[in-house]
Amino acid sequence: MAIGDLFTFVRGLLLVVPWALDLVLMDLILSFLLPFSSFFPNAVYNASSAVAFVNWNWIQCIFEVFNGGKITISGDVLPEGESAIVISNHVSWTDFYMIQALAVRAGMLGRCRWFAKLELRWVPLLGWGIWAMGMPMVSRNWLQDKKELDRVFAGVVVKKWPTWLISFSEATRYTTEKYELARAWCKENKKPLPKHLLYPRTKGFVTTVQHLRKAPHVKAVYDITIAYGHNHKFLEAPAIWESLSCGGLSSSRGYKFHVDVKRIPLVDLPEDDAGLAKWLEARWIEKGDFLEAKREEWARN
Ligand SMILES: *[C@@H]1O[C@H](CO)[C@@H](O)[C@H](O)[C@H]1NC(C)=O
Repeated sequence: MAIGDLFTFVRGLLLVVPWALDLVLMDLILSFLLPFSSFFPNAVYNASSAVAFVNWNWIQCIFEVFNGGKITISGDVLPEGESAIVISNHVSWTDFYMIQALAVRAGMLGRCRWFAKLELRWVPLLGWGIWAMGMPMVSRNWLQDKKELDRVFAGVVVKKWPTWLISFSEATRYTTEKYELARAWCKENKKPLPKHLLYPRTKGFVTTVQHLRKAPHVKAVYDITIAYGHNHKFLEAPAIWESLSCGGLSSSRGYKFHVDVKRIPLVDLPEDDAGLAKWLEARWIEKGDFLEAKREEWARN
């Protein structure tokens, strides 16, 4: 191991170990809170949001402050403290930082609840926390997931919890291989292929909108578009360990991080399921055009 690598490794450990210990503490507190959640659901929701805020803000600081990940933001300015349905494209682990950057600025970081894949349950520490916080854990089968979703939606609709309910509409990360599959699928199904994106899955989005539009405090969909650049390669993001251990991510390592957000009032969305699905597909074409414009802009300088 070269001396520079060793330095980065130790630097990473020094940054990550305290955070991981806090994650253990977070899991312990969440486990302690669990038995109380049926008696004091609102207080437990608030408490777990506060506990999560500390841990998520911490890892955000490692990325933005210690490791110099400079995130540029464009689009609509989000109102503070507003609940929303949040959708995004999915490129990398680092997407988490991009969405959190917006949540921090809107004062909603502790209120973020992510749609997570069921398999994540088995990831040590992280999986337990996700489960104990009552985040929606879904398989790919929306009918099987109905019970899970009803539970999560009830928290927002019935208990009126402030929430950013976040999902990646493509359900999987963008890769060039998957893009070729999407191209073939779109051709076969006579759908337009969005640039730099996979085709969105509409079912989860439609279900979420139809449920949460019953909650008067949920007023909007936030459509987030994430872009990365690295040495003139578009959509190339650092790996997990690199994002946690290396300093100067933007300045010396040359990563570009951009996040754009559009705020669309729920009242402006179509009423029926088919209309909503179409709406999402149309958004994805626009997002693709946005990404292409970003790519061209970055290629010029
Ligand atoms: C939870 O926090 C909200 C503000 O974010 C507050 O209005 C509410 O009263 C709190 N509920 C409990 C039970 O602490």
